Amino acid sequence: MAGRHERTVIRSASPALGALVSAARLGPRILRVPRLGWVVRDPVLIRELLVDHRSTSLLGEGGVGHLWSQVLGDWVEDLFDGAGHHSLRTRARDLFTEAAAHDLVAPAASPVTALMTQRLMAGTTVDIADLARVLVGRIVVAMLGIDVTTFLAEADAAGLDHGDDWGAYRLVFARGEELAALALGTQSDTTLAPATVDRARQILEGLTAGVPRAYRTAPESTVLGRCRALGVTEQEATGLASLLLVAGTETAASAIARTAALLADTGQAARLATATGSDRDDLVEVAVREGLRVTTPAPVIGRHITRDVTVGGRTLRAGDRVLALTYVANTAPGAFDLDRPYLPDNRHLWFGAGRHLCLGAAVARAELRQVISALAAAGPWTVVDREAARRVLIPTYRRLVVRRVA
Ligand code: HEM
Repeated sequence: MAGRHERTVIRSASPALGALVSAARLGPRILRVPRLGWVVRDPVLIRELLVDHRSTSLLGEGGVGHLWSQVLGDWVEDLFDGAGHHSLRTRARDLFTEAAAHDLVAPAASPVTALMTQRLMAGTTVDIADLARVLVGRIVVAMLGIDVTTFLAEADAAGLDHGDDWGAYRLVFARGEELAALALGTQSDTTLAPATVDRARQILEGLTAGVPRAYRTAPESTVLGRCRALGVTEQEATGLASLLLVAGTETAASAIARTAALLADTGQAARLATATGSDRDDLVEVAVREGLRVTTPAPVIGRHITRDVTVGGRTLRAGDRVLALTYVANTAPGAFDLDRPYLPDNRHLWFGAGRHLCLGAAVARAELRQVISALAAAGPWTVVDREAARRVLIPTYRRLVVRRVA
């Protein structure tokens, strides 16, 4: 049942992705597909490609940097994959450690998980998908140092405040999701139509409206305050904020909702809830790892080949494009299982590999850990209603209503 629900989530996001995933499972480790380019489904070969920075790039046709540079301008190339990228990642490293992630996530997520616990304990249903959207919105806004009231008027107009004053965070999520969805259909060509570029710029203008003020006034413990202190220009800081607002929201919310569903659907929520003390903490860590593996929220990573390279016995030529099917690679070892040991070949591949390894990995794990721990403490839960999101870049639930099992 859990597998069936996951397949629905993938197909509903994009029927093309569903078909690609099903076909790739049956195909060779690496295959050239007309119109798509090289399709790779083997974890070892995917890692080999992602860490080979001399032969692959996320700039140029096939890479996500190509999409960003059309929207933000060619200047982002240095920040996304050039010397500026290395320099910024190195200098801002301390903002993204496990300890920094904990300090960021614990206070920002607590009001959301506290409400969730309160409702579950009272026997009320909770929409985990909605709470996950609010939670990730709160964290990215806090991380950047943006004043959330920037989004209030638009959130009110869109009717996103469900009586809890969290409409602004729902708006951040919705705009990020809308922006990412503009990339749907770019699996065979990352060149965007002019109307798509215009819409993307319009969305980003709204999303980053609070950036100039935060850049001037936010403390150095925030990303934008740190950018100012490091001498990163306001334009570059706005580019980085755009990336974080999109990369840090949909992926994490997807992992949270889908892991909560997987635990309930596989009957393993009860095991987590009845465990105590360090046994439960250990199980939560496995649930986080298994949840990330089985959901692999970024199911495909694109790359542009910059020079001829041989991978898995096949020669990829400069100018070719690659689709690394991380979802297929990570789900091949089997279903979500709290007894599954660490899988060395798949280690963290849900966060990519090499120099673009997810900057927010510790934040994402802390978010997932906090929600799963709160669910476990409230007792076992079951899914009473669900709806997969349609036409989205990152497969997820639009609605996932759960109830505590007495
Ligand atoms: C479960 C949640 C998440 C997943 C599965 C995920 C996955 C990924 C993957 C696969 C990449 C590499 C993309 C590539 O190589 O082209 C990536 C990059 C990135 N992620 Fe995440 N991500 C998650 C959460 C977050 C969060 C919470 C943040 C920040 C708040 C974040 C920020 C970033 C950034 C800035 C990059 C670009 C890094 C670079 O190019 O150097 N991500 N993420």
